Amino acid sequence: MNNFTFYSPTEFVFGKDTEMQTGALARKYGARKVMIVYGGGSVIRSGLLDRVKQSLQEAGVSYCEMGGVQPNPIDGKVYEGIELCRREQVDMLLPVGGGSVIDTAKAIAAGVPYEGDFWDFFMGRAKVEKALKVAVVLTIPAAGSEGSGNTVITKVETLQKLGLCAPDRLRPVFSIMNPELTYTLPFYQTACGIADMMAHIMERYFTNTSDVEISDRLCEGTLTAIIKEAYRVKQNPNDYGARANIMWCGTVAHNGTCGVGREEDWASHALEHEISAVYNVAHGAGLAVVFPAWMTFMAAHNPKKIAQFAHRVWGVPESNDWEEMALAGVSRLKHFFRYMGLPVSFKELGIDNPDIDRLVDSLHRNKGELLGNYVKLSKEESKEIYCLAL
Ligand code: NZQ
Ligand code: ZN
Repeated sequence: MNNFTFYSPTEFVFGKDTEMQTGALARKYGARKVMIVYGGGSVIRSGLLDRVKQSLQEAGVSYCEMGGVQPNPIDGKVYEGIELCRREQVDMLLPVGGGSVIDTAKAIAAGVPYEGDFWDFFMGRAKVEKALKVAVVLTIPAAGSEGSGNTVITKVETLQKLGLCAPDRLRPVFSIMNPELTYTLPFYQTACGIADMMAHIMERYFTNTSDVEISDRLCEGTLTAIIKEAYRVKQNPNDYGARANIMWCGTVAHNGTCGVGREEDWASHALEHEISAVYNVAHGAGLAVVFPAWMTFMAAHNPKKIAQFAHRVWGVPESNDWEEMALAGVSRLKHFFRYMGLPVSFKELGIDNPDIDRLVDSLHRNKGELLGNYVKLSKEESKEIYCLAL
């Protein structure tokens, strides 16, 4: 196991009606004026936005708001939000929504006290030294942004979808998680979220670091819980127990718990971000396409951990042929994704003729010559994985 520091100071407030505590919590964390950030309108239709505003009013916290954040959020909304926050003298960002809304709020939080262009942070040209506080009301378990210190934004002009990791500045001070808020999700979005949280665990699970039994078992346990609860939620989307388990799994998958002390991979996410940047597909759907292709490649090049995953998560019988075991695991994973209504190829994702050379060029321009850690991928190997996903 490698040396590590783990510091995850977010206060999670989980359960029914918890959104009514938003105002009191905002006050507890010193907010005088918050900016509510939301997406395309699901929080208006569900009545959640009104309940959040009521809670803020009752606690005497004033607010302004910015809606209209789109999935795969873009830089334009960040600039708009920075302006608004400065004008309104906001001291806390309050995203009410999913990863796209939370990530926009985090980028705004970093951008407000910074004199330069917020995109500098994403290009590695500047470090986030100061940021406004961010607090979350989560409506979709998926990206894990409610417990992570990361934000992912697309710059429209260059179609670069890049992440920024600043856990000591951008981790939310509190996150409100009411599983009932997820009942209104279209099933496809629920399934995309499930694929994303599974991917967050798998990016950490597939490692060459030895002596990581504790995090291996946490990963395997969380994955098997997600799979079990996914079947339940497919049967009954209003099953509170299933929704609650899935929601907490999404946080555990990405708040760092499953990755401590081990080298992580993240090649599949990088491969996917290129796809959602160019073709604007749901991130989780893109991962359902990319991850099985990445694992198929790894079955031939470094099958050990993929075979372990096949056995412990999917019940594939143990044998001496790790590659065969690994491929059987990939097949079960794909079967599960299909059952959830997810695509497992570019074609099923609605992209008949992806411009693979463009994806590969952009990928390695953004991420460097070699990608990932489990097996480091050159341009040729990234291309091979995209081709396996056709
Ligand atoms: O915009 P509205 O109208 O709210 O609709 C949203 C959106 O269309 C809808 N939705 C959300 N909650 C709902 C709901 N509809 C009905 N009822 C509800 N309760 O769902 C759609 C998708 O929302 P979005 O926020 O885009 O989903 P998600 O949470 O999957 O976030 C995806 C983004 O997060 C990034 C992804 O790349 C993508 O841009 N990621 C962020 C990470 C992080 N910050 O740590 C890590 C991830 O790996 C990921 O890259
Ligand atoms: Zn993800």
